[in-house]
Amino acid sequence: MTSEMREIVEGLSQSQKTISPKYFYDERGSRLFDKITELPEYYLTDAELEIMQANVDEMAELIGETASLIEFGSGSSLKTRVLLENLDELAAYVPVDISEEHLYASALKLRSEFPGLDVRPVVADFTKTFSLPMPAIMPVKNVVYFPGSTIGNFEHGVAMDLLRVMYEEAGEGGALLIGVDLQKDPEVIDRAYNDSAGVTAEFNLNMLRHLNKSYGANFDLDSFEHSAIYDEDEGRVVIELISQAEQTVEVGDTEIELEDGETILTEYSHKYTLKGFAEMAREAGFNVERVWTDADRLFSVQYCVRT
Ligand code: TRP
Repeated sequence: MTSEMREIVEGLSQSQKTISPKYFYDERGSRLFDKITELPEYYLTDAELEIMQANVDEMAELIGETASLIEFGSGSSLKTRVLLENLDELAAYVPVDISEEHLYASALKLRSEFPGLDVRPVVADFTKTFSLPMPAIMPVKNVVYFPGSTIGNFEHGVAMDLLRVMYEEAGEGGALLIGVDLQKDPEVIDRAYNDSAGVTAEFNLNMLRHLNKSYGANFDLDSFEHSAIYDEDEGRVVIELISQAEQTVEVGDTEIELEDGETILTEYSHKYTLKGFAEMAREAGFNVERVWTDADRLFSVQYCVRT
């Protein structure tokens, strides 16, 4: 049994069964997620890109000259390109990702697209502090970039830990530029995670296919259903797979019993109020200095400075 299989069995042995969201992303899962970002119902990607395009000049001014931009994530998104195209005096661009393959492929592409840019990828698990590379030019300050409202995929305590890591990595005089999805009409949120083409359902179920293929599981994909429900009180979408029968599933040679209607939690997606996020930022040592939103106020990008 591999350590991943042990982790999977452990998650499925809790009273609320869970599978870590990292198992969404095999090759097929990554492709399905890209498809999600192109869905008309998935407002997040469009809204964030709109914010970046409309406000990048002001962002560039706040970031200033000779900063080091440290992205938590591989830097393959369009949002990053908008930023890099408009920050021409960067000391360095440092994408940080746990997946070495994805990170180096994306770094190679960025180097050819931005020949003057000092691209210094770091392979690390960014939920823990890591050491920064030394660029050729001494940076005036560090600005951590965390797009996509990925912060919302962590539960409160873990999200706080992550903000504290960002505080450490930003260093003295540093800042954080972060994408934060906002609370809004529940129906809009509901549609974003229950699209009419069924791509999100396929993405969620793909996790089981991935476990079957690579981690010795034998889930019957037809006896699980996608569920994504926005809990307005908690301000989060609860994304689950629901067992459609009483059944037994094997992971390696461990048997897991599921009841009819029992859920496996695969991800949360928290939505914030401006006030709620500002409080979290403050607790982690940041002051929210500037908030940009799209015209419909669906999404926000926030510039936070170390206090
Ligand atoms: N970070 C994305 C989000 O919270 C991930 C995501 C989008 C997702 N759609 C999903 C995760 C459906 C699970 C299922 O919006």
